[in-house]
Amino acid sequence: MTSKSILLEKVRPVADQPLLRPDVDRVAIAALVRKFYSKVRADLRLGPIFAREIVGDWEPHLEKMADFWCSVILKSGDYHGRPVPAHLKLKDVTEADFDIWLALFGETAAEVFAPETAVVFVERAQRIATSLKLAMFFRLGHTAPAGGQ
Ligand code: HEM
Repeated sequence: MTSKSILLEKVRPVADQPLLRPDVDRVAIAALVRKFYSKVRADLRLGPIFAREIVGDWEPHLEKMADFWCSVILKSGDYHGRPVPAHLKLKDVTEADFDIWLALFGETAAEVFAPETAVVFVERAQRIATSLKLAMFFRLGHTAPAGGQ
């Protein structure tokens, strides 16, 4: 290995591999998604945000989210959407709402999967939440003034 390739090896992010575990398949992921969104819908803060956006039939959203998580975790390639624009249009969402989202997601993952699997879902969710928050809230040069004004 040349020194350049050793350096690249360190710098380049390691691509995620499909999570090959017997308890992780589309059926289990769909169960996670359904359980998670029933908690979200019952949540006093997140429930109304989702109710405004998803009027009527929840099935297409639940199927889309099962596709999304199968793509993230199993690398199934089932999801073809664009999460950033879907969230940019949600004007009343705050950074604190992501903490609620992640807490409910972590709780559900721990109910559905063994701890060593749940931790993988949570880590991916945190990573995606961080990039969604950057897209939604980060403005270059617009930092909050000292004193919280
Ligand atoms: C406070 C946090 C969040 C809120 C309030 C929120 C809300 C929503 C809503 C209302 C939609 C439906 C938009 C539509 O159908 O037009 C949506 C879609 C979606 N959300 Fe979130 N979300 C949050 C965090 C996250 C996180 C952390 C992830 C990933 C880990 C995520 C992944 C997605 C995906 C993949 C879609 C489908 C986008 C598409 O292809 O149409 N969301 N979200």
